[in-house]
Amino acid sequence: MSQEDANLEARLEEQETFEPPESFVEQANVTDPDIYEEFDENWPDCWERAADLLSWDQEYDTVLDDGDAPFYEWFNGGELNASYNCLDRHIEDGAGDNVAIEWEGELGETRTYTYSELLDEVESFAATLRDLGVEEDDIVTLYMPMVPELPIAMLACARIGAPHSVVFAGFSADALATRMNSSESEYLVTCDGYYRRGDPLDHISKTNEGLADVEHEVSDVIVVDRLGDDLEHDLADNQRDYDELVAEHEDASVEPVTRDAEDMLFMMYTSGTTGEPKGVKHTTGGYLSYAAWTSHAVLDLEPDDTYWCSADIGWITGHSYIVYGPLALGTTSVMYEGTPDYPDKDRMWEIIEKNEVDVFYTAPTAIRAFMKWGEEYPAQHDLSSLRLLGTVGEPINPRAWKWYYDHIGNQECPIVDTWWQTETGGMMITTLPAICEMKPGTAGPPLPGISAQVVDAEGEEVEPGEAGYVTVDKPWPGMLRTLYNNDERFINEYWEEYSDADADEWVYFPEDGAKLDEDDYITILGRVDDVINVSGHRLGTMEIESAVVGVEGIAEAAVVGGDHEVKGEAVYVYAIPEDGYEDQGDELEGKAEEAILDSIGPIAKPEDVIFTPELPKTRSGKIMRRLLENIASGNELGDTSTLRNPEIVDEIAEQVEAD
Ligand code: PRX
Repeated sequence: MSQEDANLEARLEEQETFEPPESFVEQANVTDPDIYEEFDENWPDCWERAADLLSWDQEYDTVLDDGDAPFYEWFNGGELNASYNCLDRHIEDGAGDNVAIEWEGELGETRTYTYSELLDEVESFAATLRDLGVEEDDIVTLYMPMVPELPIAMLACARIGAPHSVVFAGFSADALATRMNSSESEYLVTCDGYYRRGDPLDHISKTNEGLADVEHEVSDVIVVDRLGDDLEHDLADNQRDYDELVAEHEDASVEPVTRDAEDMLFMMYTSGTTGEPKGVKHTTGGYLSYAAWTSHAVLDLEPDDTYWCSADIGWITGHSYIVYGPLALGTTSVMYEGTPDYPDKDRMWEIIEKNEVDVFYTAPTAIRAFMKWGEEYPAQHDLSSLRLLGTVGEPINPRAWKWYYDHIGNQECPIVDTWWQTETGGMMITTLPAICEMKPGTAGPPLPGISAQVVDAEGEEVEPGEAGYVTVDKPWPGMLRTLYNNDERFINEYWEEYSDADADEWVYFPEDGAKLDEDDYITILGRVDDVINVSGHRLGTMEIESAVVGVEGIAEAAVVGGDHEVKGEAVYVYAIPEDGYEDQGDELEGKAEEAILDSIGPIAKPEDVIFTPELPKTRSGKIMRRLLENIASGNELGDTSTLRNPEIVDEIAEQVEAD
């Protein structure tokens, strides 16, 4: 970092603030600052405002049922269908010719779906699923890249009341098998492949490898043909071509199935503190209202907006803010298949210019990469259509914030730095863009109706300026309802730390550290559990460790996150070779990397694998992970006096430096 940059970072960290631009405020959806108070005074009925954004087949009886907390229920008695809310009702309102999805393939081709066209294909695919035997409440796994057939399949599942479980296409065959085994899902929709930097990437072989490890019978696999002649492959007996099936059901009409508000809309696996991914359950009424409400209030979306969230639908951000939120509001949602630097480093800005994107939502890791590539790339394009920018997934450093504000927003667009999680379903802590002043690097206050605090280890709220842990002591409609088939883990993971079960006082613990300022703005400091955040993607260190210790010749391993200029955090592996393998470091490193790729995927590729005869341990035998994190990040090591083997620390640090 140059001295100039360091000064800027320091100045921004001193809380330079930015007011929402007048031009934005004039047209915004939510402009009345009293909304915070109104929601507080009228809680939980304030959430009717979210539910009112949807069309209900049957009005709900109660807003919140907390009789069996923390198994909260929202909008009980209400009935609705998510696909109807995202499609049919807009067409009934005369907006059938508005564009729902504007898809950009990596090679430069585009596909445009109006709401009517999207509904047609969703119905054809819903009819297909039904014909194959998919019934209400059957879980359908979608292992697909960023092709339009992914949101189509999601909405088709929603239409017939079959919850989907999307598995990120970048995950490995093993990860697919683990998730299908855990959910006992018997149906899979996948894809032959996709393009990356212009080259076809085989996805079907990985799918087939994964399927070989699924323990139950998978009755049907539907394969989208994205690569045509660019990839030769055969379909197995239970595998059918997507296009053929959709053509066979071309004129099908499928009535949306009426679902109870609390019926599951989808599940999504996410990483936690153990090796087993957690199946987060989201519901039809609460989740959809919350995705729609936050899209309306925070992303400021309107039906005639063109909006682009550059996340992958394989993660929660894509579920809530490419598919469900924007489509529920009748917006045009842009979807991009590929990488941001193909064919050149201005691809993102080209897409924004071409589609006249109004609102753009991306991850800090991407912004840091854009910054590195240089401001000349956005400068080549007319970005004046933009009126609002957003970030999600990890803390944004003030310097990256300022770059985004200056070079993408031209100092005319507010930025919303949105903190939330797979489990929260939608945004929780962020500024309302027409109301709140912005502080670079600080997410903002909790949204109206969200009761979030920063507390110390005892659960007492910290003083401004102090660090502590984020907690949420009131439920909200978008919250997860449980972990699939695992109510006990749901309680242990999220509610045990700060709740008082005897007093029936329930406090949700998201496992993030944070700092509070005198205006009650919250700065998120990062995870406090064994989860790391690589390029905004959440990875469990235990999952990576178990892959590494599976390698013959590796006795023990510790995986931690270390600071990384672009990725935010990167994966560092510290491993002890078994006796007799001490001089096979290079070979073992290759095998460890391979094992990680096989069990998780390329996103978990380690930055470095460091072999050491011992790991730093406390006298009780616990690995001192903080110390390893400090070594990886090049930070001060701190106190090593509680270690059983302090001498090993310098040895490891020297080795990291040498690497
Ligand atoms: O640590 C927080 C970080 O991402 C975690 C949630 O990851 P995931 O469930 O994969 O969802 C990511 C997309 C919502 C959080 O526990 N995180 C998310 N947004 C922010 C953030 N950290 C700081 N600032 C944010 N805006």
